[in-house]
Amino acid sequence: MPQHQVLIVGGGLAGMRAAQKAQELGMDVAMISKIFPTRSHSAAAQGGVQAAVSEDDSWESHAYDTVKGSDYLGDQDAIEILCSEAPDDIYSLERMGVVFNRTEEGKIDARAFGGTSVKRTCYVADQTGQVLLHVMWEQLIKSGLKVYSEWFVMDLIVEDNKVAGCVAMEIPTGKIEVFRSKSLILATGGIGQVYSPTTNGLVVTADGQALAYKAGATLMDMEMVQHHPTTMQANGVLITEGARGEGAYLLNSKGERFMEKYAPNMKELASRDVVSRAETMEIREGRGVDGCVFLDLRHLGRDLIMTKLSQIYELSRDYANTNILEAPVPIQPGHHYIMGGIKTDVDGRTWDVSGQNRWQGVEGLFAAGECANVSVHGGNRLGGNSLLDTIVFGRRSGQGSTDYAKSTDWVNIDENSVIRGAEDKIKEIFARPSGGLRTANLRSEMGSAMNDGIAVFRNEEGMKKTLESVRSVRDRFPKISLDNKGKIFNTDLLSVLELEFMLDVAEVIGIGAIERKESRGAHAREDYPDRNDEEYLKHTVVNLDENGEPKLNYIPVTMTQWEPQVRTY
Ligand code: FUM
Repeated sequence: MPQHQVLIVGGGLAGMRAAQKAQELGMDVAMISKIFPTRSHSAAAQGGVQAAVSEDDSWESHAYDTVKGSDYLGDQDAIEILCSEAPDDIYSLERMGVVFNRTEEGKIDARAFGGTSVKRTCYVADQTGQVLLHVMWEQLIKSGLKVYSEWFVMDLIVEDNKVAGCVAMEIPTGKIEVFRSKSLILATGGIGQVYSPTTNGLVVTADGQALAYKAGATLMDMEMVQHHPTTMQANGVLITEGARGEGAYLLNSKGERFMEKYAPNMKELASRDVVSRAETMEIREGRGVDGCVFLDLRHLGRDLIMTKLSQIYELSRDYANTNILEAPVPIQPGHHYIMGGIKTDVDGRTWDVSGQNRWQGVEGLFAAGECANVSVHGGNRLGGNSLLDTIVFGRRSGQGSTDYAKSTDWVNIDENSVIRGAEDKIKEIFARPSGGLRTANLRSEMGSAMNDGIAVFRNEEGMKKTLESVRSVRDRFPKISLDNKGKIFNTDLLSVLELEFMLDVAEVIGIGAIERKESRGAHAREDYPDRNDEEYLKHTVVNLDENGEPKLNYIPVTMTQWEPQVRTY
């Protein structure tokens, strides 16, 4: 069986950064990725990465904006680390070869983004994630990282609450293999496909969150799901916040810049939760067109659009049949990100080493990037802070997993029995009588239910209905059958396994959302419209209990220097 001191599951930016760090520290590292790593969803992050690199800025100001953006649910110790370590990480990316846009004086340029008090988002046109991913990949090729590409991780192997490795299926051949490791980092990204539509790629199916949860780790603040204000109606594809950062306007059907009413100071550059709510209000009150409002870039001019926003020029042309040089493009809020995730400390550990047993976790299991919750985004993430999260906490988990691997022994694995378990699971799915339910139908039932009840606005009735729908899909899950029972690239089988992961995670989102009886960040309840610090300034944590049922609890938010205030933009 393949054996590596540090095993990383996920080939996006957080995984790559973790791999780079652990290798630099002399570890035998390997990466397992469901797809070829440069196809990872990090490539879809368009607008930029936040860091206080200008002389007029400070990491403290970045941290304050992030705390306020999080609606005070972010852990302030983690946010201080994120923001104070950001500039050095940006300079190391630059040294690796990231061609950040420049100012006239040749310094790294920064554009405005939502919820930030100064221009702080470093960028590469509107393709920042793509460039970061490719540069990081070059570094990993150079260092000879061992990569298992197109392997799907089916389960983690845990003995006595200590991670021992994982079991995975090679997608091109159907072969099942056990991978042994001393530490294992989950860096599998978000939950996108739990929602339909979403800005996220088809591969984003909550794998890491579900694997960790099943293994005994804690999922935290999963009700905090972000809808991005500018997505395309046809397919949910993202139009970067960078467009508004460069000065684009949001207009309603009457041609009014409606954000003046909802966020008089920041207008289009209020935080995402605020802008998405404002758009939804305009649409609900009849000032939208066909479920959309408009993003108007015309006044920015051809030169700016073609140099800094050329990708969205092409996306708008291809998917909305709109030439943004000549007409506003219809947009609507759409699922984009989850602030919640696998509870970790600031070194990516899923287990609590404070001696206080504040949350439950699995020793040796780490998480980084969107699948993790450190927590730096709290109730609402600021644009550009997710790329930063992957870079800072990817690196720190590479360090943490190395320290752990050096301090521990290998755990024994009964390889044959683990392989048999995974093979039996697949055999059971193939053995179901044909003519059963179709995975695609159940996936879209779940996705639509999530977008109906746990979206920009929520209420008790809608959320309960969504949770019922999710559970009803889960009840019918065993009736799915497959026509393709082959081993070679069986994406039908993959889709079933992914759906099982997503259903677990969708349930946790629903449970946490129903129980948080207040409005905070992206969790805007029509039946509890106010933030309630007295009762809910705390993190929702969910674990599986001894009967395999979700168990909800709360843990405190870490505050350092910023007391909660009324949040206006
Ligand atoms: O709008 C955007 O470019 C997205 C960036 C992000 O989610 O950080």
